[in-house]
Formats: sequence, structure tokens, C-alpha cells
Amino acid sequence: MNKTIAVVKGDGIGPEIVGEAIKVLEAIGKKYGHSFTFTDVLAGGCAIDQTGEPLPQESIDICLKSDSVLLGAVGGPKWDNLEGSRRPEKALLGLRSALGLFANIRPSKLFKSLEDACPLSRESVQNGLDLVIVRELIGGLYFGDRKTYLDENGVETAVDTLIYNEKEIERIARVAFDMARKRRKKVTSVDKANILDTSRLWRKVLHRVAEEYPDVEFNDMLVDNTAMQLVRNPGQFDVIVTENMFGDILSDEASMVTGSIGMIPSSSLGEGSRGLYEPIHGSAPDIAGQDKANPIATILSAAMMLRYSFDMEKEAADIENAVSKVLDMGYRTGDIMSEGMKQVSGSEMGRLVVENL
Ligand code: IPM
Ligand code: MG
Repeated sequence: MNKTIAVVKGDGIGPEIVGEAIKVLEAIGKKYGHSFTFTDVLAGGCAIDQTGEPLPQESIDICLKSDSVLLGAVGGPKWDNLEGSRRPEKALLGLRSALGLFANIRPSKLFKSLEDACPLSRESVQNGLDLVIVRELIGGLYFGDRKTYLDENGVETAVDTLIYNEKEIERIARVAFDMARKRRKKVTSVDKANILDTSRLWRKVLHRVAEEYPDVEFNDMLVDNTAMQLVRNPGQFDVIVTENMFGDILSDEASMVTGSIGMIPSSSLGEGSRGLYEPIHGSAPDIAGQDKANPIATILSAAMMLRYSFDMEKEAADIENAVSKVLDMGYRTGDIMSEGMKQVSGSEMGRLVVENL
């Protein structure tokens, strides 16, 4: 098969980690007889530096013409003082919305060989930790109207709008239930229905959709309680489905409890097969350019791309197995290093994964 991939290397460690993922994709292509064509796309801080805007139209066009998009990370202190609409993060939101990527899939899983890195007590993880957060990605507070203004008394005031309609809620609900069917068949819907109207609508729609999936166990949970349950007993969750902002916050928490945020991939999907795949960690400007960054989350994101966008399950599993093998052999980048293990650079880690395919 021949597939075109738009590549957003982005800022900070983005170019290094994406470089390693591309090596892995090329190797897997060679092994299984696929060819991947990579086209670099400017987005984020580097795009601001070169063109004056975080997401040039040309970048959107290339992504729309590609079969899928692989992204490293965007942003950094250099651009922190820019006004909201000109910041590198705007590129991410722009890409998500231009490509119609309403479903953000963020798995959190305890890697067997990295169990010691988990910051939770043994008791808390006695039921394991293998969950997926399905986050609505192009609605809610992120995309509602916002403004900062002086009120009638001259007091500076700001407003952000949280808005959802039932169609937006229903389509993300279906993604969660379909995903649960391929896993342990349990969906937890997270909201703040004791306060928010959007959450009450969310709950109503989720219950409606749940009736169509009698084989999937279903419960509601308030977001504050969910934040607590994630550290108390994360093993109770299989698929968590929630709105944009709650999903942003809970997915950082869920990744950190695995102890290895540098290992966690994500995918953002829309109606078609095109998706955007990226590690969930950021651009880590403090270690950029030193070949220290862990490329595994990006490599695993590339594996997700093969699985979800290209229907290449065998190839995806092959990459995931190679990563596990390298970890089992005791190789670690600095972020997941522990006593008795062999520390390697980011590029060595990439090479080891390729070697073990
Ligand atoms: C994420 C990030 C982004 C978000 C930022 C960088 C805009 O935190 O992907 O979780 O809030 O969605
Ligand atoms: Mg986030």
C-alpha cells in the first residue's frame, strides 16, 4: 500500500522524536511492502518564525490532501508572550478543527517493565491500569466565543462560552461505546451535571446512546470524583468519555499515574480514516536538541496511525511488540531510567526499536 503522511515536526523536541518515528515507519514499510511518502508541514512556533502565523493555509491544505498526519509537539517559552490567537497552540486547535477531528483517543496503560515508575501505591493499582480517555476535541470551551472587555464600571472582565449540541455529544458517545466493545466493555461518562446545563444535556444523550449498547456496562461520574478515583483505583475504568476541557485535564492526570508520560501516544479522529497522531507530552524545550528525548510516545503514535487510519493491525502490533522488547531488554531513556537499567539517547532508542521489528 502507498500512503501519504503530512509531518508536523513542530518545536522543541518535536523534530527529534518525529525523526525516530519516521525511521520506524520506513522500516515497517520495508518489512511489509508498503511505501510511505512524508511531506513536512509548518505549524506552531517554527511557523510563526518563518511565516508570521502559527498555521499557514498551505499547511492545512497539505494535511487535507494527505492520508494522515503525524505531529511532534508545538510551543515553547519563546512564543509565550504572544496574544492568544497568535500563539503556537493555535495551530493545534486550527488543525483539529480544519480536519474535523472530534474524537481524541488517549490510552493510559501501565507498561509491565515500567511498573516501578508508577507513583501510586501497590494497593491503588491492584486492579491494574489500562484505560482509554475519549475526549471531545472540537467543541466546548475551546471553541465557544470568548472575549476580554471592560464592564460598565470599567472593570476588566473576561468570558469564555461552554456550548455543546446533542449531535456533537452523540457522535463522541458512539466512538466511546464502539471502542468499549473492542475492549473490556465498560464506559464511564464524565460530567458536572450537578451544576452545568451542558453536562445535563451530555448525560441525557449518553444515556440515550447507552440503550443501543446493552452489552456495554455504563455509568456516570462527576468530574471531581473522577479526578479522585483515577488515583484511588484507576483499574475500575475501561473507557472514559468526556467533554473537551475535562478530557484535557483528566488525560494529563491519567498519563502521569502510569509514571511514564514519555510513553503515551494519542490519536485524533474524525468521520473518515484520516487522523492526527501525536505523543501526549509537550515540546520539552529544556532538553531540545540534546538527543535526550524519549521517542517512544511518538513511535507508538505512528503505530496507532497504522492501526486506525491505514487498517494495518499486524504492522501496528509489530511496532508495539518491538517497543516492549527493547524495554524488557533494559534500555531506557533518561525520563524512564531506573537503577540497573541501560541508559540510551533518543536516537539510540529509535534504532533499537527498528532493530527489533
Ligand atoms: C493537549 C494540550 C492542548 C490542549 C494545548 C497545547 C492547546 O494540552 O493536547 O492536551 O489543551 O488540547
Ligand atoms: Mg492537555
